[in-house]
Amino acid sequence: MAILMCRPDFFGVEYEINPWMHVQVEVDHDLATRQWEALHDTYQRLGVDLDVAEPVQGLPDMVFSANAAVVWNRRAVLSSFHHAQRQGEEPHWRALLEARGFEVRELPRALSFEGAGDALFVGDRLFCGHGFRTDLATHKMVGDALEVETVSLELVDPRFYHLDTCFCPLNDRTVLFAPDALSPDSAALVRRLVPHVIQVPAEVAAGFACNAMPLGDRVVSSLAACKLQEPLAAAGFETIGLPMSEFMKSGGGVRCLSLPLDTGRS
Ligand code: ARG
Repeated sequence: MAILMCRPDFFGVEYEINPWMHVQVEVDHDLATRQWEALHDTYQRLGVDLDVAEPVQGLPDMVFSANAAVVWNRRAVLSSFHHAQRQGEEPHWRALLEARGFEVRELPRALSFEGAGDALFVGDRLFCGHGFRTDLATHKMVGDALEVETVSLELVDPRFYHLDTCFCPLNDRTVLFAPDALSPDSAALVRRLVPHVIQVPAEVAAGFACNAMPLGDRVVSSLAACKLQEPLAAAGFETIGLPMSEFMKSGGGVRCLSLPLDTGRS
């Protein structure tokens, strides 16, 4: 597994673009760095092929590399950020992905799409979220660019503004998800399309438990995932819970800090 992270050097809550962010709440920068390093070291220990991006001053959310793009078969669809505050990241992510040899595709500027934050593969089907950061109209464009089938899911709770805050594919047949974060039709669609679903109560998902990274038979997530230890163990997964308090102040957890780079058929 290859994962792109971005150092938290310039991370902070400097504006409010989701309900978790409050500029008056202080971020403990040293603690954020330690939490990020613990995730980095956990990945390293588990044998992940890590790529670490250089952060850019003035782009405090660049640490959330999941939002850079979505990648499939060494092709990347670059994000077109919904909020002006994050649009400055786009040229940096494009340059980085091109330098790594990815074929980078772009979407029309007028449409919003926030990368792997709103686009997650279950097998070779791409489940895409819409409702807050990503426009429904981009789903087909992303699917066409990557030559994959897409499934559109409607997000309905502003706390779960990116699909990766409430939906996590664990393998080709299993998804961890919070049905209350999706419209009833979308939740039903997940249950119909995915052979095995582990349903998470919204209160547990609000601890960023679904914002997780599966690595073989392990699931790396925030501490709240410890509440899911039983259903995860029953499905054959060991839970690794890490403290993510400082990134949660920005509306992010483990998965937001991680962009899988080697998705695809290979
Ligand atoms: N503060 C960031 C934002 O609101 C958090 C991004 C979280 N990323 C994610 N993949 N869910 O854009």
